[in-house]
Amino acid sequence: MLPQEIIRAKRDGGELDPADIADFVRGLTDGSVSEGQVAALAMAVFFNGMSRAEAVALTLSMRDSGEVLSWPELDIPVVDKHSTGGVGDNVSLMLAPIAAACGLAVPMISGRGLGHTGGTLDKMESISGYTAMPDNALFRRVVASCGCAIIGQTGNLAPADKRFYGIRDVTATVESVPLITASILSKKLAAGLGALVLDVKCGNGAFMDNPDRATELARSLVEVATGAGMPTTALVTDMNQPLASAAGNAVEVRNAIEFLTGKVRDPRLLEVTIALAAEMLVSGGLAPNPDEGAAQALKALEDGSAAERFNRMVAELGGPADLLADPDRHLGQAPVIADCLPQAAGYVAGYDTRGVGLAVVELGGGRVRPSDPVDHAVGLSGLLPIGTRIEKDTPIAVIHARNDGQVQTVRQRLHKAILITETKPQLTPGILGRQA
Ligand code: URA
Repeated sequence: MLPQEIIRAKRDGGELDPADIADFVRGLTDGSVSEGQVAALAMAVFFNGMSRAEAVALTLSMRDSGEVLSWPELDIPVVDKHSTGGVGDNVSLMLAPIAAACGLAVPMISGRGLGHTGGTLDKMESISGYTAMPDNALFRRVVASCGCAIIGQTGNLAPADKRFYGIRDVTATVESVPLITASILSKKLAAGLGALVLDVKCGNGAFMDNPDRATELARSLVEVATGAGMPTTALVTDMNQPLASAAGNAVEVRNAIEFLTGKVRDPRLLEVTIALAAEMLVSGGLAPNPDEGAAQALKALEDGSAAERFNRMVAELGGPADLLADPDRHLGQAPVIADCLPQAAGYVAGYDTRGVGLAVVELGGGRVRPSDPVDHAVGLSGLLPIGTRIEKDTPIAVIHARNDGQVQTVRQRLHKAILITETKPQLTPGILGRQA
């Protein structure tokens, strides 16, 4: 069918058949379907949605628009996690080595941060010497030898998504559940995974700010992934406060190293990381149930085997061999480090989490446009969990900045973004739901 007829059918509420979707994605990939036509179809889907069968067809066509990896050399289950993105979400840095230490292979192809959310790739690039974009041979070698490799997309995986996302981004059509579903899953399917676990973030620092929308996305992702042949479960997790006590790049790597080596483990981060690890181990057939999976994951943390995997992965990807022993030697330090004191004593009662993420962008630690550089050294640490009692001299954050001017601006932002009350707030769980 001609692209304009496919657009017309979707505009009028019809259901597209897989062959038409495949034709459209072929044209999207080779450029024969114009930007205007892609935008028009995206808007038609935005308003009229897609059936699960259409979303599966779109996902598979986008997967097949480029290279599709497979892992015949591995005789262990290949499982990954994808997060829809948040603030202080450095889970991947611990989760990949925990899962690897428990016996899974985790080829983690991650992205850069955009807007108020951070990106795993930017965090890893704050480690001096780390090759975040290795060639295929090195990527495969590190997965085989360490069980995990956290890298950026190097090959030609799901190129249709790259063009489609770029057009959606500038035509107000990103926020469509079937389009988000196909975008995320096409890349994960192209990575050749045996199973996937999704962390669908929900709250004022996430893409989906209410539980109904987050649950709708989680259900769509699970059903479409399963329909496309990749067993998938999803946890809906809270993003109404930064997950780690740090937000930025090098500061989040430091936080991850403290977590792996047992120096400091932010409780909420521990809860979410272990729950996701448990899901991965069940999906990979290495644990009979999430409780058993959680016990295995905790053991890998406590006995140091997860830390050892992380250290080895960093070294084999060109980073320092002593990162865990001497992180300050290998991670950038901002020139100005200053406390942010509260305006009153009381309890940390709530966050405008997006505002905290934007404070990191203000410092230069995030990007507004995809081509922007990031300053790896700046960011925030010492963020306190909701419910913490504070006095007037208790820092509510530590600002890592390039200059004093930034410190003043970011202090003001944080005073607006962090709510302090006289009474102790109600605490909410880190894990809000599960879809399987
Ligand atoms: N992340 C993606 O990879 N794609 C989307 O469409 C939205 C978030």
